[in-house]
Amino acid sequence: MVARLLTTALLILLAGATASAALSRQLCLSCHPVHYAGQGSCTACHRGNPASERKNIAHQQLIAGRYARFTLANDPLTRVGVRLLEQYACRRCHVIGGKGNRLSVSLDQATVRRSPGELAASILRPVQNMPDFHMKETQVTAVVNALLSDAALQPPAPAARPQVVHFDQAGSAGRDLFSIKCGPCHQMLTERLGALGRGDAGPNLSGVLSPFYPKSFKDDEEWNAGRLRRWLDNPRAIRAAARMRPVKLSEAEFRDLLGILGVGNVK
Ligand code: HEC
Ligand code: HEC
Ligand code: HEC
Ligand code: HEC
Repeated sequence: MVARLLTTALLILLAGATASAALSRQLCLSCHPVHYAGQGSCTACHRGNPASERKNIAHQQLIAGRYARFTLANDPLTRVGVRLLEQYACRRCHVIGGKGNRLSVSLDQATVRRSPGELAASILRPVQNMPDFHMKETQVTAVVNALLSDAALQPPAPAARPQVVHFDQAGSAGRDLFSIKCGPCHQMLTERLGALGRGDAGPNLSGVLSPFYPKSFKDDEEWNAGRLRRWLDNPRAIRAAARMRPVKLSEAEFRDLLGILGVGNVK
């Protein structure tokens, strides 16, 4: 009996000691060995809650190992991700690292609201108005590391930033010039009319007249109104192998089109 009381007292003492130790050391170490010693605390790279010995609590908002690569200096996988963001021109629709068009949600804010796993899932299985880039899983992991690294460099975005308006696909959609003349082959997000077009024979033209669209006109040149006009008049005069047929537009129709394509982006 006395022995049991003593044991209980000892246990209580031990528990108290552990709780106060939580303040000075990370309880992650009660289950994990130290690694990357000298490069910061566990939670500096992985988030999580260092004050609990219970896995579910300790792992809250955990950044798993594969998404924590961006925390390492000059990490090659993160560099691959940064290149993919450029190559696929994600900024034609998203603000990333403070730069890009606001045609869709800011990915700087998404990295705060969503877990790395959720971000990866959004890229692997994109929603209706986001192109499917058919990336391999390792490429998606690289991109998520890049998003986290860019976001980490940014000050928190102002809360009252206007969000994109999402338009009903039904209603008046489909009767604008883009939907009629370009929509059978192209899709795009626009500031004025939301998501337009249904086809995917040609590229997604979101932000085509902005600096965040690929410089794909010719010889690494970016698109502008004059070049778009020349392209529409005769694509093969620009690229000999172009599959797109000429689209004849009157001056008024072309001005109308420019009004639909225009975006006010973030530099
Ligand atoms: C109670 C024990 C326990 C504690 C405390 C704990 N972990 Fe874990 N952790 C585990 C186990 C077990 C795994 C193996 C995967 C799983 O079961 O989730 C794991 C996996 C991980 C992984 C790898 C996940 C992946 O998929 O790459 C990381 C990173 C991690 N823990 C970080 C932490 C950090 C940081 C802390 C402290 C904030 C912590 N853990 C606290 C038990 C623990
Ligand atoms: C400088 C950043 C950094 C620090 C500090 C750090 N980690 Fe990691 N951790 C990583 C990275 C990056 C990975 C991915 C795989 C790798 O490079 O080892 C990882 C992977 C892991 C894994 C998965 C390992 C596996 O083999 O699957 C666990 C568990 C983990 N870390 C736990 C911890 C714990 C616990 C601490 C604190 C002692 C800690 N990490 C400190 C960056 C860090
Ligand atoms: C044509 C426009 C467009 C392009 C280009 C685009 N996206 Fe998206 N993306 C969207 C839309 C639309 C959504 C859905 C936003 C919503 O939930 O309202 C989205 C959502 C996301 C989400 C989820 C955000 C969240 O809040 O959960 C991620 C992550 C994402 N995109 C990453 C990317 C990456 C990485 C690229 C480049 C490889 C990319 N996107 C290119 C349109 C685009
Ligand atoms: C019948 C299908 C079709 C229609 C209609 C069409 N396009 Fe295209 N477009 C394409 C195809 C296919 C490509 C891919 C490049 C190529 O091989 O021609 C393309 C490429 C483009 C490009 C080059 C994009 C890049 O990054 O290389 C632009 C700009 C463009 N179209 C604008 C328009 C506009 C604006 C309209 C409407 C006024 C339109 N297109 C109507 C099929 C079409």
